[in-house]
Amino acid sequence: METSLTLLLLCSFVFSTVTSEHDNVCSRPELADTIEMDGIQRYFSPGAELVLSCKEGHTPVSGPRRIVCSASGQWTHTKLKCIPKLCPYPDLLSNGEFYYEDVKYQSVINYTCNEGYILIGASSAVCQANGTWSAPVPECTPVTCGLAPIPKFGMIVYHKKIRGNTTDYGVTGTYRCLPPYVLIGNARAECTASGNWTKIPECRVVTCPPPENIDKGYMSSSDDRDYDYMETVKYGCHGHYVLEGSMQIVCQDNGKWSEKPSCKAPCSVDIQRGRILYKDQKLWIADMQPNRVLHKEIVSFYCKDNARNCGYAVPTQCTDGKLKIPECFEEPGAVDYNLYAGSLPSEIKQC
Ligand SMILES: *[C@@H]1O[C@H](CO)[C@@H](O)[C@H](O)[C@H]1NC(C)=O
Ligand SMILES: *[C@@H]1O[C@H](CO)[C@@H](O)[C@H](O)[C@H]1NC(C)=O
Ligand SMILES: *[C@@H]1O[C@H](CO)[C@@H](O)[C@H](O)[C@H]1NC(C)=O
Ligand SMILES: *[C@@H]1O[C@H](CO)[C@@H](O)[C@H](O)[C@H]1NC(C)=O
Repeated sequence: METSLTLLLLCSFVFSTVTSEHDNVCSRPELADTIEMDGIQRYFSPGAELVLSCKEGHTPVSGPRRIVCSASGQWTHTKLKCIPKLCPYPDLLSNGEFYYEDVKYQSVINYTCNEGYILIGASSAVCQANGTWSAPVPECTPVTCGLAPIPKFGMIVYHKKIRGNTTDYGVTGTYRCLPPYVLIGNARAECTASGNWTKIPECRVVTCPPPENIDKGYMSSSDDRDYDYMETVKYGCHGHYVLEGSMQIVCQDNGKWSEKPSCKAPCSVDIQRGRILYKDQKLWIADMQPNRVLHKEIVSFYCKDNARNCGYAVPTQCTDGKLKIPECFEEPGAVDYNLYAGSLPSEIKQC
């Protein structure tokens, strides 16, 4: 503070030695930073006049533009204000957007186009001193693709009428192959935002070799010939074998059959004595005629909870010829079975 005061005094002394003895001089007026004045000197004598004006891009409103240094060393008052020039609000940009915070002098407006459109013109503009934008509103024109590439032995059907040899972004079409060629890939075509078409499919003749039979099974057709794309063959199983998987295979676009099913073997309940639960029925094993459980079927064996002296059924499943007897099951001896059948876990109170 002290140094600046010293500097000020020093400056005033150097700057105008003649007027330094006079008390009543005006120093440079303090003005809003949008206002400028014509004088350049630091001190003004009483009676001096200053003409004020607005800086570039601003318009004066109210108040005199002239101030005078009075005898008491004060500038006459002014209510002059300079307000920034405004540029017109921008027109709507079709297929695009604009971003701005303000439309006053030196404001910036940015333009972007929606996906699939290319901006033609300036992507931004500045509000100039004369209240006009530095560039006109740009245009967003659609991206175009050439005509869609056509696969060999194929064609395309556009979903809208095409004029000339270009198509707009978003235009779609459907590929077809001339029979007997089969379309491999995506049948749908679209002119993308990057100006190219989606991946072109292929038109191919697809055949599958004669299908193979399955163990313990048969098939609906066993001709020794090539099979066409999408042709199907059905399978079945002999006897008490159960088909697992899809009953039908199809010749796929890769020239291979879809996965074959298989035939799964039935199981027998390998105990001599005891009672089981099968299809909601309690059966003595001797009464189970025939002794056969199909693949995936469930059989329950009875086990005993010795602590609580009660019986309970434990399920197990036939899996391709194998029926695992639960570990807790104890096959009774011939004497127990014949004389004390009533005390078997299947016959006593159930837990
Ligand atoms: C306009 O774009 C410029 C440069 O990308 C960015 O700095 C400015 O913030 C943007 N202005 C608006 C209003 O989006
Ligand atoms: C506004 O100012 C710009 C830049 O100085 C100039 O190019 C343009 O012609 C001016 N427009 C009008 C309407 O005066
Ligand atoms: C589009 O067609 C016009 C006239 O039919 C031709 O002059 C121009 O080369 C073609 N452009 C392309 C990319 O094929
Ligand atoms: C289309 O062009 C884009 C960008 O150039 C590219 O990433 C894309 O793989 C092209 N698509 C096809 C199907 O050629």
